[in-house]
Amino acid sequence: MGDRAAVDDDSSVDGRLSPPPSFVEQANVGENLREEFDREWPACWNRAGECLSWETPADSVLDDSEPPFYRWFPGGQLNAAYNCVDRHLESGRKNHAAIRWEGKDGERRTYTYQELFVEVNECAAALRDLGVEEDDVVTIYLPMIPELPIAMLACARIGAPHSVVFAGLSAAALATRMDAAESDFLLTCDGYYRRGDAFNQKRKADNAVLSVDADVTTVVVDRLGEELTHVLGSNEHDYDDLLETHAGATVDPVTRDAEDMLFLMYTSGTTGEPKGVVHSTGGYLAYAAWTTRTVLDVKPKDTYWCAADIGWITGHSYIVYGPLALGTTTVMYEGTPDYPDRDRLWELVERMAVDVFYTAPTAVRAFMKWGTAYPEAHDLSSLRLLGTVGEPINPRAWHWYHEHIGGGECPIVDTWWQTETGGIAISTVPGVDDMKPGAAGKPLPGIEVDLLASDGTPVDSGETGYLTLSRPWPGMAKTLYDGDDRHLEEYWQQFSDPDAGRWRYASGDAARMDEDGYLTILGRVDDVINISGRRFSTMEIESAIVGVEGVAEAAVVGGPDGSDVYAYVSTERGTEPGAELEERVLAGVERAIGSIAQPGTIVFTPELPKTRSGKIMRRLLEDVTNGEPLGDTSALRNPEIVGEIQSTVRDQ
Ligand code: PRX
Repeated sequence: MGDRAAVDDDSSVDGRLSPPPSFVEQANVGENLREEFDREWPACWNRAGECLSWETPADSVLDDSEPPFYRWFPGGQLNAAYNCVDRHLESGRKNHAAIRWEGKDGERRTYTYQELFVEVNECAAALRDLGVEEDDVVTIYLPMIPELPIAMLACARIGAPHSVVFAGLSAAALATRMDAAESDFLLTCDGYYRRGDAFNQKRKADNAVLSVDADVTTVVVDRLGEELTHVLGSNEHDYDDLLETHAGATVDPVTRDAEDMLFLMYTSGTTGEPKGVVHSTGGYLAYAAWTTRTVLDVKPKDTYWCAADIGWITGHSYIVYGPLALGTTTVMYEGTPDYPDRDRLWELVERMAVDVFYTAPTAVRAFMKWGTAYPEAHDLSSLRLLGTVGEPINPRAWHWYHEHIGGGECPIVDTWWQTETGGIAISTVPGVDDMKPGAAGKPLPGIEVDLLASDGTPVDSGETGYLTLSRPWPGMAKTLYDGDDRHLEEYWQQFSDPDAGRWRYASGDAARMDEDGYLTILGRVDDVINISGRRFSTMEIESAIVGVEGVAEAAVVGGPDGSDVYAYVSTERGTEPGAELEERVLAGVERAIGSIAQPGTIVFTPELPKTRSGKIMRRLLEDVTNGEPLGDTSALRNPEIVGEIQSTVRDQ
């Protein structure tokens, strides 16, 4: 199997470290949790359900009569916005900070739960007035400004599923997602700051709206004021005007069944066609809240910071839904870690006295490269726990994070999960488990992992296998928006045996389990690559490159440190490879997907290595990219090209 191992040079897993007693004493969950969950499964998941307030209690925890379409908390009724906002007012916490937002240029806004309640209600009233009805999909295309979570909660309040599209994605990507979801409502903004420059978002949104099938109603947040003037067209509304019109309005939270869709999130699959992952209201929210409590150890009094973007699942679960359901203070940061200087994050941690900090390993590697002077310039002693997500963290980066950010004291949770799992599925439980740098940890209580060979038989400990989950869990995706058939096909067919009543979710990742049950994640086994912890299909990027005039073929593979993409590109006869073509390739990817998917390295080659049947041998290109010994080349039609490519890569 092709394990695109992203664990680098120092990939061997180190010795274990125990969490300090001071952490253990105050941790939200203590020992024996795994045993209790095993003994009580599936009733154990009531504990997740109990994190929420239900209008109608569920009839049972799990209906598994039609696997793999499991129904969590069937019969239960609730509203997600009520759970994330209203109930905290009722419990006397209305003046507690819900969101602390830090803008790119030093602007700050704090929303107490009361203020959040007011604006979510006004926004919900405005959306309803514009014609949004229960179950209409509302697309949100906003950067990291408070209006983004407010719009999400407003949608949840009126029972309209949201589909948030990452603001950095292109007009074409936005249009594909709006069409796929048949969404005719869009919330966007005039523009936002990127590295200090005003960037026009509305132009992208306008281009998307022009090309979608539906007649779209658009709401525009004025983020930049005078800096970037914009004109509203017909069927376009100004966010602030709408709120003013609905000032003081309240909207009763719509009663939703536990199984009703809370949101839709598009993610890359193995084909170029993004998958609309559908999450339920009850199971998802319960799981997001429970994992925030159990793994991230968040308490209502904490200031908690997940430095991700809400445009991806990490931000949905761990900036918005999990922390707000628990009534904590969640930090939202609009900027980048190095602007205006490389100590920006540490300045914020110090000023806000952040208790728990959660980020991606790619960020940790950047901090490490910048050096210790930046964190050392700040008092980081408020930190109690650190987390990582999105890709494996190599032991060297782990130790650096532990030492220089965590002061050698804070436990680190390396959390494995996916858009489809809704929340963390593999991690150490920080007050209970020892940590093993380089290994994510054990399956969470109630989660069962099987590592399998391609024929479905379990692999021995220490061997690489396909990572499958063999028991359902509340946060699991309900289905795909394009239908149950694709859902079955994508995730359940490969390793399930329905005749034997055995259902296994195929994650698309490879992993290895040590004798002690700790899992090391080795990366994707399918044609999906991780760029800085974000997921793209190689086909999606390749087809963007091939769409550029003069390009004949392209193959895209992940680079050595998990944050770079290498594109191998062959040109058509008469086209000169070089800087000009490189620019056009980059522009092509930006247009089709967004600049975040742009390859960091482009290698031009007269031909790509191919089998006799004409299939591009990506595996070989991965070996070349990562400087590894070449695998078997006997099936190649043009073996001579590999040496040429190797020397080009070496020279770059
Ligand atoms: O390959 C795994 C990697 O990220 C993929 C999921 O990407 P996405 O759905 O975009 O969600 C990202 C944030 C949850 C997985 O299939 N991944 C995620 N967490 C880890 C990881 N790889 C290694 N270690 C992790 N902790």
